[in-house]
Amino acid sequence: MDFQEKYNSYLNSVEQSVGAFCDRLNCKPEILNESLKYTLKLGGKRFRPVLMYAVGELLGVDLKKLENFALAIELIHTYSLIHDDLPALDNDDFRRGKPSSHKVFGEANAILAGDGLLNTAYSILLRECKKGGEYICASEQICDCAGVYGMIAGQSADLKYENERNYNEKALNFIHLNKTSKMIVAPCVVPSILCGGKYYPELKAFGENLGLLFQFTDDILDVEGQFDLLGKSIGKDENDGKFTSVNLYGLDNCKLRADLLAEKCSAILEGIEGDRQFLSKLVRFVRDRNK
Ligand code: IPE
Ligand code: IPE
Ligand code: MG
Ligand code: MG
Ligand code: MG
Repeated sequence: MDFQEKYNSYLNSVEQSVGAFCDRLNCKPEILNESLKYTLKLGGKRFRPVLMYAVGELLGVDLKKLENFALAIELIHTYSLIHDDLPALDNDDFRRGKPSSHKVFGEANAILAGDGLLNTAYSILLRECKKGGEYICASEQICDCAGVYGMIAGQSADLKYENERNYNEKALNFIHLNKTSKMIVAPCVVPSILCGGKYYPELKAFGENLGLLFQFTDDILDVEGQFDLLGKSIGKDENDGKFTSVNLYGLDNCKLRADLLAEKCSAILEGIEGDRQFLSKLVRFVRDRNK
């Protein structure tokens, strides 16, 4: 199977869980039900759940065990996008190629849609906890990565540095490691936790660096990506005075650093035994992505 076929096969599993989740959803009032499903159903790359399945396969974890964790991570990620786009945060009108949640349902309903996805993810994780100790640890890890010492801290720092011209590398690292890497570390370490912590330090380091690479390429694409492929507005970071890897290092240096991050990810992978081929190519996919 080539890379794209393999990606698609993981993607199919994710789409099935997301589809089944949406089909089961039966909230009242109707606007809540619709707004919960809207951004989820627009798709996106499903990068985090795909990554979790790939790491699971490398470690020999039964992928069935990962299904609910993968769904919970995608729900949390989607909530973070809905809230990230709100006028009070990045004020972005487009997401996944369509008008953002608040453009369709209004700001208040978009806030609730995000809250609803996050709460539902926690319910899913709590149910997983009943399966045993390792499921409790895996769920705890996801909550920590999404929380106030994780993605939320990164989002808060991202806002703090908006229009503050006191750029430095330490601050950028804090922002990227938290707002982006944490939700990429989670899918890397959950499979490890489910099999007794196999390669945990390597997978954590891999997730951190892959997350940094992911945000570098996100920043680059905000400058030179295409709306039709990316599905979100271009040039927003510059307009909003965001502190990004591009304005710290400059576009060319940022690309060089992205190359180095990709090399670092590959080097970490080499310390893990097994069929690493798909994950190596996934690193390349993040470096070369146009969406
Ligand atoms: C966008 O994430 C937010 C960042 C962390 C840069 P993705 O690029 O994974 O968005 P989707 O899920 O494919 O829409
Ligand atoms: C957001 O980073 C990361 C999240 C936690 C959602 P960005 O604000 O750069 O993500 P995009 O460019 O809007 O997708
Ligand atoms: Mg943002
Ligand atoms: Mg944004
Ligand atoms: Mg961005």
